[in-house]
Amino acid sequence: MLQLVVTVPIGEAELASFMLWRLGVLAIEEREPSEPGGTITTTSSGGTEDHLVELWTALGDDADAVTRAAEAFPARWRWHLVEVDAAVADTWRDFARPTWVSDDLVVVPAWVPFDAPAGATVVRIEPGATFGMGDHPTTLLTMRGMRSALWPGATVLDVGCGSGVLGIAACMLGAALAEALDISPASVAVVAANAAANGVGDQVHVSNTPLSEIDGTFDIVLANILAPALIELSVDLVRVVGPSGVLVISGLLEGRSDHVVKALAPLHVISSHARDGWVAISLRR
Ligand SMILES: C[S@@+](CC[C@H](N)C(=O)[O-])C[C@H]1O[C@@H](n2cnc3c(N)ncnc32)[C@H](O)[C@@H]1O
Repeated sequence: MLQLVVTVPIGEAELASFMLWRLGVLAIEEREPSEPGGTITTTSSGGTEDHLVELWTALGDDADAVTRAAEAFPARWRWHLVEVDAAVADTWRDFARPTWVSDDLVVVPAWVPFDAPAGATVVRIEPGATFGMGDHPTTLLTMRGMRSALWPGATVLDVGCGSGVLGIAACMLGAALAEALDISPASVAVVAANAAANGVGDQVHVSNTPLSEIDGTFDIVLANILAPALIELSVDLVRVVGPSGVLVISGLLEGRSDHVVKALAPLHVISSHARDGWVAISLRR
């Protein structure tokens, strides 16, 4: 199994992740650089030095195709290919643990034994090759924002649904339906299987339909995507939020979200919560 490792200044990790998502990668893991000498000179911020981060991802096993894609990266980024054992790449599964979103809501890896306490909503997720185990700070924050905005029978649009964890949880908590969208082809089968396994298969509809092609409005719109994607989608995100609706966005770094909020006008911020350097923001009309 071929892994693409892109080494970038930490201040450019968001941009690099965005470029990788656009290439169709299904997951990105951030790691400390394995080599010493963790600074690089950036050209985008006037030549200042910055710490480095490695972004590990997979773009398929065709080394020539991956090389062609990587050659489009800015020259200041370094990248290399690593051959890893598929079994080793899956060892994270041994360490996956349930994530408590609140006292009565927990996301559990589908393969982990779990005795559900009485009254708890348990969302079981098998992510396959998608993002969304519930344990990332942005997923947790978006889920909390969704829950505070949710009312019984609300309609939900989950933009960038990954494993479907947000839309599935919304339906389990009382939403009437969740429309789930992702650019990743892998999401369609994964979300359908997760929704069925959690008993909400009839309420969750998943597709690769672009947001620009979604008609109508929704009571709650969730978009846990990176800032550049939120800006790119901003006009459509504003359009699909219903008159009394709420938009919850995340994938944003704390202190670096003003430009995204500005792009979402006339929606205005009603709350904002941070965790581990990430932030989720709820907005309404
Ligand atoms: C950070 S993951 C979030 C997954 C899940 N919603 C969660 O909260 O855990 C972002 C997802 O957005 C998807 N994505 C990125 N750009 C997108 C776009 N323009 N339209 C739809 N999905 C997009 C990616 O493929 C990825 O699955």
